[in-house]
Amino acid sequence: MLKIKESTRQRCTITQLDEKARKRLQPVSLEFFHFLYQTKELPFSIFCRIENTLIEYVSPGPLVTAHLDDLWDLMRRPETDCEICIRKVDKAAFDALMGGVRAHKLELLSRQMPNLDKKTLDVFANLSAASQMVVAGGINADVAQHVKASAAFLVSNAIDSDQVVATLSRMINCDPTLYDHSATVAMLAAAISLRLLPKQLSGREAELVAQCALYHDVGKTCVPHEILNKPGKFTPAEFDIMKQHTTLGHSELMKLIDGGVSIDELVARVALEHHERWDGSGYPHGRRGPFEADAQHGIHLYTRIVMIADVYSALLMRRVYKPAFQPQDAIRIMAQEANGFDPDVFKPFLKCVVRSLNKDESHTNRLLVIGENGELSEWQSKKAKSA
Ligand SMILES: [Fe+2]
Ligand SMILES: [Fe+2]
Repeated sequence: MLKIKESTRQRCTITQLDEKARKRLQPVSLEFFHFLYQTKELPFSIFCRIENTLIEYVSPGPLVTAHLDDLWDLMRRPETDCEICIRKVDKAAFDALMGGVRAHKLELLSRQMPNLDKKTLDVFANLSAASQMVVAGGINADVAQHVKASAAFLVSNAIDSDQVVATLSRMINCDPTLYDHSATVAMLAAAISLRLLPKQLSGREAELVAQCALYHDVGKTCVPHEILNKPGKFTPAEFDIMKQHTTLGHSELMKLIDGGVSIDELVARVALEHHERWDGSGYPHGRRGPFEADAQHGIHLYTRIVMIADVYSALLMRRVYKPAFQPQDAIRIMAQEANGFDPDVFKPFLKCVVRSLNKDESHTNRLLVIGENGELSEWQSKKAKSA
């Protein structure tokens, strides 16, 4: 059991947690915890729950960085049963604060790097707010409505797939704290649907694909956070639990759908299938090939799109167990594992990423080249070689 420091006891209000108090609290997603470092004053309290003890860690008023450091350290100890929470009534204020910080960071970034596509950044900020509502758990009709509106905003903004890939890749590299997994997956998936597969998918369908992407990892809210945030490699038993986020997400979404929340059943299907692979090597059921050829064992087209966006997005981001890969390396890794992806979706995506990367590198004469079988190599001009 974790010992509470004497200085914390003197500074904070500490209470025993009962059911009534628990119902009034809402855990905060760690993905944007760093945003709190950008604020000087907090209009609400932040609580730290350690087992059944509740500490009002930060009260409304000036925010001290050292306190955030303490909370961050605590959260990253895998052996501790603790959560960072706010009161549910403060959720709107929390979201507004996070949205404000995100918008400010994006604004600064686009000033520093004028070659980032402004429209992509605006749409990303909008999607990120919806994505955070989903990962915070407690999905209801309002959250579902927000997700739908964000997906519609994304598609109506006529995003350009090359710009989306280039801008998101650069943005994540430049400021990793702006990374939002589901929002990134949604933008990439919509870009694939709209620009790369326009003959197969209408705008309406692209909106649904974006919704699928925003919800795809919802099952992670059911995985114990000590596994989710484990700093090291998973043991086989832990990996088995982690894999359950697919089935847990599916049943969570089906429960909501059965309860009357307006979410399409395909959203639940994609949450279940997004770690399946084209060659049958994925989980949880080892499905393979297209759903159109085999409704029982095949993988839906929407999933085949989301899985590619999911893998690319995850490779770009640093995780406790892996480094952040540069876009060139991420796409190389994917090309080596291309058997796992539907070639009709992967090839256009590969071309789009290579095109956007080569635009950046055109002045260096070191370009990525796609071979006949989809293998990637680097082309270097004689001039660049001798330089
Ligand atoms: Fe996942
Ligand atoms: Fe994911």
